[in-house]
Formats: sequence, C-alpha cells, structure tokens
Amino acid sequence: MIIGRLELKNFRNYANLSWRPHPYINILSGNNAQGKTNLLEAIFFCTAGRSFRTSREREMIGWTAESCYAAAEIEKGESAFEISVCLSHGGRTHFRLNGQKKNRGKIFRPGLSVSFTPADLDLVGGSPSERRKWLDLELGPFDFRYLPSLDKFEKVLSQRNNLLRSGARQGKIIELIEPWNEQMFLYGSSIIMFRMRLLKALFPRLREVFSVLTSGKEEITFNYISSLPLEKGMGPADLRGLYEETARKNFGREVERQQTLFGPHRDDLAFFINGSDVRRFGSRGQQRSVVLALKISLMRLFFEEYGEYPVLLLDDVFLELDRQRQRGLEFILGEEAQVFITSERRLDGCFGGRSRTYTVDGGKINRGEE
Ligand SMILES: Nc1ncnc2c1ncn2[C@@H]1O[C@H](COP(=O)(O)OP(=O)(O)OP(=O)(O)O)[C@@H](O)[C@H]1O
Ligand SMILES: [Mg+2]
Repeated sequence: MIIGRLELKNFRNYANLSWRPHPYINILSGNNAQGKTNLLEAIFFCTAGRSFRTSREREMIGWTAESCYAAAEIEKGESAFEISVCLSHGGRTHFRLNGQKKNRGKIFRPGLSVSFTPADLDLVGGSPSERRKWLDLELGPFDFRYLPSLDKFEKVLSQRNNLLRSGARQGKIIELIEPWNEQMFLYGSSIIMFRMRLLKALFPRLREVFSVLTSGKEEITFNYISSLPLEKGMGPADLRGLYEETARKNFGREVERQQTLFGPHRDDLAFFINGSDVRRFGSRGQQRSVVLALKISLMRLFFEEYGEYPVLLLDDVFLELDRQRQRGLEFILGEEAQVFITSERRLDGCFGGRSRTYTVDGGKINRGEE
C-alpha cells in the first residue's frame, strides 16, 4: 500500500499542504517543532482512524481554524482509493472512503499503517494497561472477531463492576450478577484465546526481526501472563471452563474488593531478552529494539495476511540505537513497504536510491532530494 498523495488543511501547523511522497523511503528532516511528527500523525489519522498522540481529536485542528481536513490517496496494487477525514470544533468527526461517509470501524480493521513513536516505549517499560492497549488496538484487530468480542466484554465488565460496587449484600449480588457471568466467561475467554493465537502467529516474525536488529546476538521470547491459571494446549472450551471455575471460586474476594478480578482486562505480557525480563533489566536501547521489532513484525504479519505492506511510520527511531542496530534497521527497511521516517539529523546515504529526503520547516515541506 502506498500513499500517492496527501492533502492537509489546517491540520496542526499545516495550513495547506498537497504532497506526493516517494513510493519507498521518505526521510523527513528538520529542526525541532517544525511539523515532522505532525505529518506522521496526519498520515496515521488517515490510515488508522485515530491519533497516536491524543484521544482529544480536536487538538489536531489548527489553532486559528474552526475545522481541519486530511486526505490520503492510497494505491493498492493496480487500484486506488481515498480516505479523508473532517474534524470541526462544533461537530463530529467524519471519515469518508472515496467521498462516502463511513463508520471508522468499517475502514480500519486493522489499520493500514503501523507506527512507532517514542511514546510506544511504554509498551515495554510502562504499566500492564499499555500492553493490553497494544493487544487490543494493534494485534487484536488481525482477527475480525476480536473487536466485537472486546466491545461486548467491556459492556459486561462495566455492568458487573457496577453491581460489585453497589453495596448490596453478597446473596443479592450473586443473584443479580448471574446473567452477566455467562457472557463474561464467553467473551473473556474468546479474547484470551484470540490474543494467544495471534501472539503465536506473530512470534516467529518477531524473533527473526529481533535477531536481524541485534545481529543475532540477542534472542527474544515472551510470556502471556494471565489472571487465570492457564495450562498449555487449552482449547476454547477448556479456557471458558477454567474462567468460570476461577471466578466462582473467588467470588467472595470480588465482592470484598468490589471489582472483577479475573479476565483479559487483568492480563499482561512480558518480554525477555536472552532469558531476562526486559521491563526490569533491559537497557533503553534494548527496550527500544523490542518495541521496534514488535512493530515491524506487525508489518510483516499484515503483509502475509493481506498481500500488501501497510505504511510504516517511524518517529525519531534512530535515537538510542547503536550503529549496529541502525544497520539492522536499514536492512529491514530495504523491503517493499513505504516508510516515513523523521529524523532531526540527515540520514544521507542510508538507503541508496530508494529514498528521498525532505526538509520540514514551519508546516511546509520542500521538494526533496534524492
Ligand atoms: N493544533 C495545532 N495548531 C497549530 N500548531 C500546532 C498545533 N498542535 C501543535 N502545533 C505546533 O506544532 C509544533 C510541533 O510539531 P511537531 O511535533 O510535528 O514537531 P517536530 O518537527 O516533530 O519536532 P521534534 O524534532 O521536536 O520532534 C508545536 O511546536 C506547535 O507549535
Ligand atoms: Mg517530533
């Protein structure tokens, strides 16, 4: 998939932009605060349906404007389509596919781009909720059943937690909670199952990318840490049964703590390099390498599932990577994907004739050089 043209109007510091990027590697260089990350954010918004920076979408509207507009013409094999989005202070956000209004869930499942930004480092170093967010937003949507199940699970969870917090006596809560339990066991166990299957599919790619990044010196493994006592080789029915058994056995504790203690909303993921936990023992460069490898392996999974590469957006990716890891990354980026990579310094000579370097200056992009 290639972005053939990008149009922005009043998107952050871009008053008016019409840009035809390079089909392979676009290097966006320039001083601080000129709009490099803003440009990646605009591309991500058009290709993933959300911002990687903010959940308050209106922040993206130019400060002196009432509304903003972003559109990307996307070439896919021999065909092309346009995704556009309009955002205003007074109204709702409207996504359009070839001019027709569409629900964003219908356009982006999974997103058409993969992004890496410095904030993604929380994926390894941050709290478990960051890793669940990654599972839910980036990996989960590779199974089309994931988001509908998550949606249902979250509704049930909220009802169940309301009952647990209601202050009613235990007998009464048991009676009221029963109709929600069935759905919780069903959707909750499905989500855990989807996660484990997708992680298993991702893993060989992750291992390979990580090995290239570290010149074969470091080996990555991961562990899905569940609130349920999972055992190897469990099928969907076993998992559902285990969920029910665990929740029923510990119901008294849930009443006492006034919250749902078991399920995918309490699970976590741990990564290990050569056997040691990256979260606790990994250096910054190692943490960065793990996140980068996760993102690039998602890109490959996308290619193998859909026969097209998603667009790859890399913000300040070369920071904290030593020369060897940078070379590993340059090698990986030699694949067919269209890449947008920001860098405060120039990256001359890294990608041969497959790249173009643009200078971003105050919301404008120059014509670029080979
Ligand atoms: N809604 C907005 N309207 C107008 N300008 C905005 C808006 N939001 C942010 N900006 C401007 O965009 C600038 C930041 O741009 P951006 O984050 O893209 O910088 P950058 O080129 O990536 O810099 P760095 O090298 O520091 O990462 C801010 O300094 C701010 O002035
Ligand atoms: Mg930036």
